[in-house]
Amino acid sequence: MMKCNLLKLSVLLLIGGLFACDSDPKLSEKALIPLPEKVVEQNGVFTIDENTKVFIDRPELEGVGVFFSKFINHSTGFNIQVVTEKPESDYIALELGLDAPDEGYGLDVRPDVIRIKGASTEGVFRGFQTLRQLMPVAIEKEGGFEGGSWKIPGVKIEDAPEYAYRGSMLDVARHFFGVEDIKRYIDLMSLYKMNYLHLHLADDQGWRIEIKSWPKLTEIGGSTAVGGGEGGFYTQEDYKEIVAYAQERFITIVPEIDMPGHTNAALASYPELNCNGEAPELYTGIEVGFSTLCTDKEITYQFIDDVVRELVELTPGPYIHIGGDESHVTPLEKYIPFIEQVQDIVNSYDKRVIGWDEIAHAALRPSATAQYWSKAENAKMAVDQGAKVLISPATKAYLDMQYDSTTQLGLHWAAYIELDSAYLWDPAELEEGISKDDILGVEAPLWTETITTMNELEYMVFPRLIGIAEIAWTKPGLREWDDYKSRLIKHEERLKALGVNYYSSPLLKKGKAK
Ligand code: ACM
Repeated sequence: MMKCNLLKLSVLLLIGGLFACDSDPKLSEKALIPLPEKVVEQNGVFTIDENTKVFIDRPELEGVGVFFSKFINHSTGFNIQVVTEKPESDYIALELGLDAPDEGYGLDVRPDVIRIKGASTEGVFRGFQTLRQLMPVAIEKEGGFEGGSWKIPGVKIEDAPEYAYRGSMLDVARHFFGVEDIKRYIDLMSLYKMNYLHLHLADDQGWRIEIKSWPKLTEIGGSTAVGGGEGGFYTQEDYKEIVAYAQERFITIVPEIDMPGHTNAALASYPELNCNGEAPELYTGIEVGFSTLCTDKEITYQFIDDVVRELVELTPGPYIHIGGDESHVTPLEKYIPFIEQVQDIVNSYDKRVIGWDEIAHAALRPSATAQYWSKAENAKMAVDQGAKVLISPATKAYLDMQYDSTTQLGLHWAAYIELDSAYLWDPAELEEGISKDDILGVEAPLWTETITTMNELEYMVFPRLIGIAEIAWTKPGLREWDDYKSRLIKHEERLKALGVNYYSSPLLKKGKAK
């Protein structure tokens, strides 16, 4: 192999890649997910070695440059540096100025240089995730080098996302997941170019974010979980750490406080939020639809204003999610003015509202988004009001739905969702009257009634989240199940290298590539 490298080096410098080594990686061996818009194979390979540099053409790329060099150094043991003076050769160039949509990028891998050019720093970051998937899977492991070689097949890629919002939701209320778990989730999302993580921070069974002006929310409301476990919550410092970690990976955190229903934890913490002034017991079951904030009391709106104000201080992103689902014990004539008032509170802090599709019963404020999970007629009411829709159909995108009747974890009240079912749909074709222009994006929620550990979480999420990421990123005309399946089969090696406890579906074994 060494001989081949030396020969290749001298020959490549002269005529650029006419000779290939048998041991060189082939583009056809790689699995790019989500599939980029345009992929053209090129001659030659680029080899990352200890002399490779990351070159940035603008100071604002320093953050991503340092992020990439650390990522590469972590596995290779190299000490690759970020430089601002262009090297002669053997460098990865990060550049801005591409004329493309915001997260668009171009990636050009040649024997002497790799170029990632973005329309924004975000675009450059997305381009790096594509480059990562062209690298040997050992790049995913600390010290993965072990004498290996870091060759990347020549290719030219042009790419941009179909939807601006490509997200996932974690329910940290039914069962709590700590900061390290959330960071791992963010890391895994970033590999698939996802850009929003929605945290469901409060529900009947738990309140998970410290609110300094209402401290009993976490003292009492955060003290348990489904099944009576010990619960937990994020301090504001914890939460800032999550937000910053996500920002570094170009992921925006969307905090949700579900209301007026799904509020037993808050009602148990503060009796004054109940119409009868009495605090209910903490709740550790999995029923829904039995709790409501008292929509008639002034104190309720003071409470919401305080919570939103503190959340906004922790939230650089544009959205606050107000829940609004399954408020079965709030009469509609009270629910509607409540949702309208809460939208005004959120808007008064210059944030936009997202709420589950039921909020479309209220007059939606101009910047509001309805998250379609259950009723198409609600989503259509939102569109008729000029609002955008975030697409999360429970029958396709709910990651807690069981794969089939043998799945031990999860539930199946909406559907069994095998990998093909999770992949074979198009947000813009799902419901008549909801077209591409009405859609903000796609989000895959994981509810955690039955999920207690990261291992369990990963089993339900992977690999379905990967298919949802492709639906949200890749143009529908380029998506095809058999092609996706064969890429996913190749991608399993990377999931293993990452230590992901994914569901090894029978669909991935049938017709497995030799
Ligand atoms: C929901 O699944 N209740 C939004």
